[in-house]
Amino acid sequence: MLGCGLMGTGIAQVAATAGYQTIVRDVAPEIWSRARANIDKSLAKFVEKNKLSAAEKAAALDRLRFTTETRDLAACDLIIEAVSEDLELKNALWKELDQLAGPRTIFASNTSSLTIAAMAAATRRPDRFVGLHFFNPVPLMQLVEVVRTVTTSADTYTRATAFAASLGKAAVAAQDVSGFLVNLLLVPYLLDAIRVVERRIGTVADVDRAMQLGCGYPMGPLTLLDFVGLDTTYKIAEIMFLEYRESRYAPPPLLKRMVLAGMNGRKSGKGFYDYSVDPPTVSDLGL
Ligand code: CAA
Ligand code: NAD
Repeated sequence: MLGCGLMGTGIAQVAATAGYQTIVRDVAPEIWSRARANIDKSLAKFVEKNKLSAAEKAAALDRLRFTTETRDLAACDLIIEAVSEDLELKNALWKELDQLAGPRTIFASNTSSLTIAAMAAATRRPDRFVGLHFFNPVPLMQLVEVVRTVTTSADTYTRATAFAASLGKAAVAAQDVSGFLVNLLLVPYLLDAIRVVERRIGTVADVDRAMQLGCGYPMGPLTLLDFVGLDTTYKIAEIMFLEYRESRYAPPPLLKRMVLAGMNGRKSGKGFYDYSVDPPTVSDLGL
């Protein structure tokens, strides 16, 4: 596993719970301790609900190892990448690992908006490169989009799909287009919700309440944006807008201002809502 932020932590958790020896690489030990604590907390909830035994929880934690060394991942059968949504960063890591990993190792990216082709082309194993797109929160969301690009071999695709199934996830085949299947539909909706707030058509609280009560969504779009991360959403929108040149993917100015101010959502303590208080309150955005 490359990266243990929001997504890498969840993917590492489900892999270790499913019985895989899991090695996680991130840049600093403080990041691992936070990841390990979050995994512990999440597994404890499953134990509380009798979905996992205490022994299974301990065994899952035992299968997890953390490192800052990319080379420690070289012997893995499958390397899943969930570092920040930045092609240069991702490809620097893929190029390094391409030199170190054995010929059977499959590379998989959890990218939200980049194409798999843009990463596969940076390696000498484009036939062993696939997309495995998980959803947040990974331990609870059922879906994984399995993405085959023009160079992915049938064997790689079959192994990646079987891996997703072995985690207890439902796999959906998606084309290698920016946003795959879900984000192609979800991202314009989330960006439109910001535009509604920006244009003062509705307040943050009302937009969220309206979509929850009117459409039965588990979270309103602004709560969901805080959950996904506004920094990540901004990068996703920029990438999708560059790819399609359609205004529906363009990041709204309000989103950019909030990211510039460090309001990245739940992970930074503040986004559309302020999480320093319980229950969270709506942030004053000066609108
Ligand atoms: N691990 C274990 N248990 C967890 C957990 C976790 N990580 N997160 C929450 N739970 C538990 C809670 O503790 C709670 O347990 P209790 O019932 O005992 O209190 C239970 O799950 C339900 O949680 P909540 O009461 O907090 O809230 P909820 O009923 O709304 O469910 C949710 C939470 C599943 C996240 C739900 O709100 C939901 O489905 N939200 C939408 C998520 C979504 O759309 N994700 C996709 C994002 S887009 C993406 O991922 C792609 C991309 O590329 C950007
Ligand atoms: P995040 O910001 O929570 O975590 C990114 C992690 O990458 C951080 O822990 C950071 O330290 C680490 N990182 C940065 N440079 C690194 C390096 N050189 N080596 C190892 N780790 C490094 O981001 P996230 O939300 O977990 O997103 C990660 C990826 O998953 C992105 O591609 C994103 O688009 C995708 N994704 C995000 C979501 C979501 O809801 N947030 C959902 C699906 C997919």
